[in-house]
Amino acid sequence: MARPRIIVTRKLPDSVEARLKSLFTVALNHSDKPFSRAKLTTAMARADGVLCTFGDKIDEDILAASGARKARIVANFGVGTNHIDLEAAEDLGVVVTNTPDVLTDATADLAMALILASTRRMYAHEARLRRGDWAGFDITSGLGCALRGKTLGVVGMGRIGTALAQRAHFGFGMKVVYFNRSKVLVPSIPEAEAAESIEALLAASDVVSLHVPGDAGNRHLISAARLALMKPNAHLVNTARGDVVDETALIEALQSGAIAGAGLDVFAQEPNVPEALRALDNVTLLPHIGSATLEARIAMGMRAVDNLVAFFAEKVPPHQVG
Ligand code: DGY
Repeated sequence: MARPRIIVTRKLPDSVEARLKSLFTVALNHSDKPFSRAKLTTAMARADGVLCTFGDKIDEDILAASGARKARIVANFGVGTNHIDLEAAEDLGVVVTNTPDVLTDATADLAMALILASTRRMYAHEARLRRGDWAGFDITSGLGCALRGKTLGVVGMGRIGTALAQRAHFGFGMKVVYFNRSKVLVPSIPEAEAAESIEALLAASDVVSLHVPGDAGNRHLISAARLALMKPNAHLVNTARGDVVDETALIEALQSGAIAGAGLDVFAQEPNVPEALRALDNVTLLPHIGSATLEARIAMGMRAVDNLVAFFAEKVPPHQVG
């Protein structure tokens, strides 16, 4: 029997590409240039499976490939699947898979790094030093705030939210409050408190970290009105999806000092980051690198391959989302 043909939309770690080649007939993306809509559509029409990632907007038209669709599985490299129209995939009978768990530590580590960067004003200090504006050690300027005894509010207490809360609580002595759409128990942090509402969490927290999926229901979850509930000395961290926050309202809050700072790894219109945001020195900006460790990226790739292997062996893929 001919090997299934897999089209891969982005460059993958070498070991993942080697495994794919050993199992399938594979078209790799050596240049790593993102696929156009036309190329994604052609991939759906020509491959048995497409291995894609965040940034590949797989909507209904692309999934259908103008009635010429051949692919039966879209194996996403990444846990978030908000760039794929899951309903359309289900209607068309296309299986969608993702790669959870293996990026939890990397993303939680990065969220913790952003908390430290924001509360210790690292960007402003480093920029000052690089500009040559550092006159030497001084005692009172640009002081940050300590984390011990402060409250971390986690919005979305899933795998990554919980892993961050563990780091902040056990490693840095923070109290933890959390809000989750559905009721969750957090046995690993017995002291963690569930907030009654997002509003209550925002008002109580010194640092708020977002860990909700980027689905339509979470668009602008952190709105202007909700940002206004945060303490003026609080910090907002987002490693989830950019459109979970009303970016314009966040810029205003940072400009006016309505909140003290932010650490952002994700943006509403990636890779475009508003100039007004880039001009601020009370925000740390990273280019969507939450899961960007070699270890996590290899494990994510292997998980995507595991999903393809199971699917073409006529088994239910271990991480099927739709
Ligand atoms: C994820 O896995 O969802 C990361 O944000 C990269 O897409």
